[in-house]
Amino acid sequence: MSFLLEKRKEHLKNLETCCQTKENGKGIFHGIKVAEFSIKLAEKSQNVVGRKYIKDANDYLDVVEKLMKNKKTTSSDTNKDKKYGDIKLDDIAGLQEVKQDIINKIVKPFKYKELYKNYNMPVGGGILMYGPPGNGKTMLAKAIANEVDAKFFNINFSQIKNKYYGESEKNLQSVFDEAAKNDTSIIFIDEIDYLFSNETDNKVGLSAQFLALSDGMLKSDKCMILIAATNKPWNIDASILRNGRLGTHIYVGTPDEEARKFLFINNMVQSVSLNVPLCVDMTNGYSGSDIVEICNRIKQYIIDECIGGNVISCVQDDKIKDIILGVVPVVSSEMEEKYRNWRKNNEK
Ligand SMILES: Nc1ncnc2c1ncn2[C@@H]1O[C@H](COP(=O)(O)OP(=O)(O)O)[C@@H](O)[C@H]1O
Ligand SMILES: [Mg+2]
Repeated sequence: MSFLLEKRKEHLKNLETCCQTKENGKGIFHGIKVAEFSIKLAEKSQNVVGRKYIKDANDYLDVVEKLMKNKKTTSSDTNKDKKYGDIKLDDIAGLQEVKQDIINKIVKPFKYKELYKNYNMPVGGGILMYGPPGNGKTMLAKAIANEVDAKFFNINFSQIKNKYYGESEKNLQSVFDEAAKNDTSIIFIDEIDYLFSNETDNKVGLSAQFLALSDGMLKSDKCMILIAATNKPWNIDASILRNGRLGTHIYVGTPDEEARKFLFINNMVQSVSLNVPLCVDMTNGYSGSDIVEICNRIKQYIIDECIGGNVISCVQDDKIKDIILGVVPVVSSEMEEKYRNWRKNNEK
């Protein structure tokens, strides 16, 4: 364990240096290493600590992603790079109603602020995206950041949580303060249940602080949107979810037929043909990230064959079936039922 901690610390230090000196190539290497050692530490830790390492790993992979974008683009693009690469709403499979909701509630009011003001239409508010893991909630938030001309603040567990008394509240306050300096801003809290769930300590103080800050933010005359995402809406304090706070609830579920087709076509290579209808038929109930995993396994198979001197122009149906059956869907029908029940009780 101490070896892992040491290695993680060493790569983290190098990553920080590379970020300062703008050596993105080396930074990418050290960022990946930090994520790798965080995962190894998570495997050896339990509960909250384990989850914190998982979050850390995700965060450092985000840093790597940004460094990769920076490496490829010129300095005039830096503002865009800060906003999660090039993900757009159109890159997200399916979820047509969700996207329309987002366009109506966020994109249009931000784009046509003056028009909304002239008609005395309220702008801003709080939105909770919820649903089973791996279906595009985080991706949607990143797309929103790119679609909307607003300052985007991404809050996550490891940024806010601090073991010292009162420090987590201060961290939260400083993000809201920073957001308030802008006329238009979006605060995104990913996996909000980690911050305000019963399992984590220091809950009461932080929840109260969040309620006060979000009330202040949403009542201000600035254009501010609070977006939160969660896989476990039932773990969130009901007071946070009521009208006027995170009052709009948007369900992000597993991809439908059209969306699965889009995912298979978008994630596969053009040069090798694939029985897409078979893939679509076999993957009802699979999450978006399950489907990306299936595509990766198919591509790995094509690559391995190629390395072995066998160039493939069409993947056989039997091989496709084998690969799909080898990926266990993350979302079970009981899980979907749990979301349906929560939805029934909480959506107006
Ligand atoms: N609707 C979707 N459209 C395109 N890709 C998706 C979709 N849902 C999931 N994915 C893929 O799965 C990955 C994980 O999705 P993510 O947004 O992190 O899920 P969530 O936040 O709901 O757990 C994405 O990076 C993307 O590759
Ligand atoms: Mg997510």
